Amino acid sequence: MYDLHVHILPGIDDGPETIDESFQMGKIAYESGTHVLVATPHRKDVKEFHSLNKILFLTKKLNNLFLKNNIEIKLLLGMENHMSLDLVDDYINGFAITINRTRYMLLEMPFFGSPNYIFPVVYKLIDLGLKPILAHPERIEMFQKDIKTLDELIKIGLLTQITAGSLLGVFGDIAKELSIYMLNKDLVNIISSDTHSDSGERSPRMNDGINFASQIIGLEKVNKMVVETPLKVIQDKPIT
Ligand SMILES: [Fe+2]
Repeated sequence: MYDLHVHILPGIDDGPETIDESFQMGKIAYESGTHVLVATPHRKDVKEFHSLNKILFLTKKLNNLFLKNNIEIKLLLGMENHMSLDLVDDYINGFAITINRTRYMLLEMPFFGSPNYIFPVVYKLIDLGLKPILAHPERIEMFQKDIKTLDELIKIGLLTQITAGSLLGVFGDIAKELSIYMLNKDLVNIISSDTHSDSGERSPRMNDGINFASQIIGLEKVNKMVVETPLKVIQDKPIT
C-alpha cells in the first residue's frame, strides 16, 4: 500500500517528537502492509519554524534508518498545505511543495468557516498546472454542512483523500457519515492514514479502515484508493 498523508518527521509539526517514534511509525506501517509513505508536514510549521532543507535532511535520515534496520519502506517528501491567501506565492517561492515534486498538492481546507478566497486560490493553483488533492474533506465543516462545495471542487478537477480513521468514527459521527457517503457516491480517490503517532487511533495502521471500506464498496475499488491511484500520484501520472 501507499500512504500519501503522513506526519512522521520528528519535531516538525504535531507529529512525533523523537526520531525513535518516527522509526516505530515506519515499522508499524511496514508491518501492516504499507511500503511507501509520503511525509506531509504542515506548511505553516515548516515555513515558520523550520526549513525545506531540514525536512529534506530528516527524510533522508529516516530512510537510512529504515534501510539499516531492514525495514523495506520508502519515505518520500510532500507537504500538507493549508488553504491561505499566500499559498500561491509560497508555491512559487518554494515554501509550499507538492507530493514528491509532482503536480499533486495535498491541500487542507479550513476546518471551520469558508473564506471567500478558496475558489480564486484553487483556480490559480490549477493555472500553474497543479492538481490539488483535498486532505480529509470528510472532516471539514463546510463540506459537512453542504456537499455542494465539495461537488464543485471535484467538478473543477480536484481529487480527494479521506482518512482511514474517519471511517471508524475516530473524528466523530459526522466525519464518519460523510466518508461513507463519499465512498458510496464514488467521490473518493485516495485513502490515507494521516498518522501522527506510533500508537492509538492515529497510528499508521490503515487495515481496519480499509477493511471497513471494502465491506461497503468492495476490495477492488479500495485497492485502487490505496495502491493504483497513489502510485500514479507519486509517479506524476494522470488520474482519470
Ligand atoms: Fe494531516
